[in-house]
Amino acid sequence: MENLTLEKIVNMCNQRGIIFAGSEIYGGLGNTWDYGPIGHEIKSNIKREWWKRFVYNSPNTFGVDAAILMNPRVWEASGHVAGFSDPKIDCKDCKTRHRADNLIEAHATKTGKPVNTDSMSDDELNKYLTDNKIKCPKCGNSNFTDIRQFNLMFETSRGVTEGGQSKIYLRPETAQGEFVNFINIQRTMRAKVPFGIAQIGKAFRNEVTPGNFIFRTIEFEQMEHQLFCKEGQDEAFYEEYKTKAWDFLLSLGFKAENLKFKPHDKLSHYAKAACDINYKFPMGWSELNGIHNRTNYDLSRHQEYSGKGMLYLDPVSGEKYIPWVVEYSIGADRLMLAVLCEAYNEEKLEDGDTRTVLKLHPKLAAYKAAVFPLQKNLGEKAMEVFNTLNKHFYCAYDEAGSIGKRYRRQDEIGTPYCITVDFTTLENGIVTLRDRDTMQQQSMTVDEVVAFIKGKLE
Ligand code: GAP
Repeated sequence: MENLTLEKIVNMCNQRGIIFAGSEIYGGLGNTWDYGPIGHEIKSNIKREWWKRFVYNSPNTFGVDAAILMNPRVWEASGHVAGFSDPKIDCKDCKTRHRADNLIEAHATKTGKPVNTDSMSDDELNKYLTDNKIKCPKCGNSNFTDIRQFNLMFETSRGVTEGGQSKIYLRPETAQGEFVNFINIQRTMRAKVPFGIAQIGKAFRNEVTPGNFIFRTIEFEQMEHQLFCKEGQDEAFYEEYKTKAWDFLLSLGFKAENLKFKPHDKLSHYAKAACDINYKFPMGWSELNGIHNRTNYDLSRHQEYSGKGMLYLDPVSGEKYIPWVVEYSIGADRLMLAVLCEAYNEEKLEDGDTRTVLKLHPKLAAYKAAVFPLQKNLGEKAMEVFNTLNKHFYCAYDEAGSIGKRYRRQDEIGTPYCITVDFTTLENGIVTLRDRDTMQQQSMTVDEVVAFIKGKLE
């Protein structure tokens, strides 16, 4: 919808049982969010669709569910201990915290003189801020602290007594759980390269500037897929996963004009190629997912740090090599936000009213249908219809208020079909099915409703 604001999405989520502020009764905990009954269903459906496409329907792909807490050496090998940090500065006047690289990049874009903040030392970043008299976006003053590199990994400690504690981390990405299990999976599943390992799970980052609702949070879920291949096959797989990632978004109902590929301006030292798919969020075009050609960096580093061989023996050619990796990574919460923004509509009706309708793809909607008795004394028959339909897909039941009000409530949470039971249903078993998007109604038997909705879910 044109002119959609994030505020509208946040309000809708709060009012309709989709997402609430985390620990709300205690005043919340900044940038944590709790999914309510409707939001939990939508997010689960998003994750299920991803799993279906990237595990069940991807040949030679295996799912894992690795531990969140990993041996700290994993994070030394991956480079996170040394380099997973952002340059943080504070405004001394209004006490707002910023990422220095973001302020510099915003200034560089405005002036049309691009800079590569990744290759700048902290001294160079400080100098740029001073020379260009960069202002605090909140108070407009230029009175910053010096830059400090701030590691984004959440630290915790394990051990019963304080003296015996040792530092461990909450994982900042799920990917390492796939890499450290490469040999286990290859061996136990008798997997032949090329093959994939996929995982959905929580990740944690102590972000310097979290925000924009569930776009950037400190606790979030990732859906990641690592494709292990032979060097030389990597470029074709990189292109294939770009297409697969794009097609997945279209299959969820995204319009192509709201998506675009964005190649990374600067590559990580180990990457051969990397790009994002950006989505037109209400706050502007921003990253939705990433596709990365990671070379054989990850497995090589784990071989070096663990001392365990990561070589793959090709059973046909007899060749031994460390496989390369093409990674596809997307945040489940960030995708949820994009799905909600894409589906949100306000429509002017003929009677002058405005209806809010969440035009979710039926496979993502929390309820696939809502059953209403026209009047309360039809409740027994309506409950019978509800019980029949609910065996096939998750349904809601509502008998409170006028039919019009009941339609609106379901429109606002994206229920694609409403089924009304009236007096004729008692005689001939025929119900009325109303379509959320067209608001058209048609009469059919309950068996026909089951077949009709199942058809829409495929
Ligand atoms: N293993 C690669 C990796 O983690 P990333 O670009 O840092 O790459 C991948 O993250 C995806 O995870 C992003 O495209 C985004 O969808 C999601 N993501 C990253 N940080 C996030 C955060 N703080 N909050 C919500 N989602 C996040």
